[in-house]
Amino acid sequence: MDTAKERDGVIDGGGYLDRVRQVYAGAALDPDAALCCVDGALRQLPGLVVPDRMLEMNYGCGSTVDPDDLGGGGPILYVGVGGGLEALQLAWFRRRPGGVIAVDPVPEMRREAERNLREAARLNDWFEPAFVTLLDGSAAALPVPDGSIDLVAQNCLFNVLMRDDLAAALREVRRVLVPSGRFVSSDPVTTRPIPQALRDNATLRARCISGCLSFDDYIAALVGAGFGEIQIRARRPYRLLLPIEHPELDEPILLLSLDAVARPVAPPDGPRVYSGRTATYRGPDAALSAGGFVFSRGMPMSVSDRTAAALQGRDEFMLTPPTWHVRAAGCC
Ligand SMILES: C[S@@+](CC[C@H](N)C(=O)[O-])C[C@H]1O[C@@H](n2cnc3c(N)ncnc32)[C@H](O)[C@@H]1O
Repeated sequence: MDTAKERDGVIDGGGYLDRVRQVYAGAALDPDAALCCVDGALRQLPGLVVPDRMLEMNYGCGSTVDPDDLGGGGPILYVGVGGGLEALQLAWFRRRPGGVIAVDPVPEMRREAERNLREAARLNDWFEPAFVTLLDGSAAALPVPDGSIDLVAQNCLFNVLMRDDLAAALREVRRVLVPSGRFVSSDPVTTRPIPQALRDNATLRARCISGCLSFDDYIAALVGAGFGEIQIRARRPYRLLLPIEHPELDEPILLLSLDAVARPVAPPDGPRVYSGRTATYRGPDAALSAGGFVFSRGMPMSVSDRTAAALQGRDEFMLTPPTWHVRAAGCC
């Protein structure tokens, strides 16, 4: 639970958001390979050559670029541009002026992203810098109209935000999305509570280490902002926090990188989170109705975590554990 001190957005008497901006101004001017980033997370796209400096400035925790989310063809909003890598990858799918809008409040970061995108245009025939519109703005006040965006993406920024700022940022995402839109999000989550002393360390927090929520709290924040359907795309080790580096710890804490896709829908039976569980009816009949859905005998159905919990303990169902790798919503 964040302290009142954190809720005010102030740690150790300094302005926390100012510290975040300082960290990223520094990371723009002097690329920092140890900042965020998960080994091997880069998505390869045919005919896309990524400038070296853009690669060095990959400050993402996972990936938010997935063809499954890009079918609609409408505008994409990317929050927290970094070196511009994912904005470029998203532009690969749109290929038109203004197809991607990228927002960042740190002038140094916007300047470097612009430079990287110009270099990308030199290396890639298909790309023009105008395909990405870079805007000054913050997650707390996105500079686009209500209901104007098909896809909002953010990578490794929201874990940095204080609890109240995170709630405000998620409300903003919800505000700008069209009703059929999607929010693609990648952040670290923690497997154990992080001691308050580490959470209060502004630099570690700004560097995507100590501000992250548990999986359940992360999902609850999405649900609280009105995202009633969430699919977990990926979940893998991100960092191991060790007492030798952080004396505040009495034992190691594993952080996981979580990629999720959230939709602003309201299923009649409440929010549905799909982590890759399946339920298979194995009883005497050809089919069985449960949770408003018909399960055919022997046919695994992708189900939400809530449905899986409701079926747990019923002998006529076989349940499988999460794969953490979901491509489409399940039945119920
Ligand atoms: C961890 S980096 C991630 C960059 C990029 N998403 C990537 O995957 O490489 C966080 C980014 O968010 C920007 N940022 C910091 N505070 C922000 C805010 N309040 N709103 C939007 N962006 C912010 C930083 O300047 C930086 O570009």
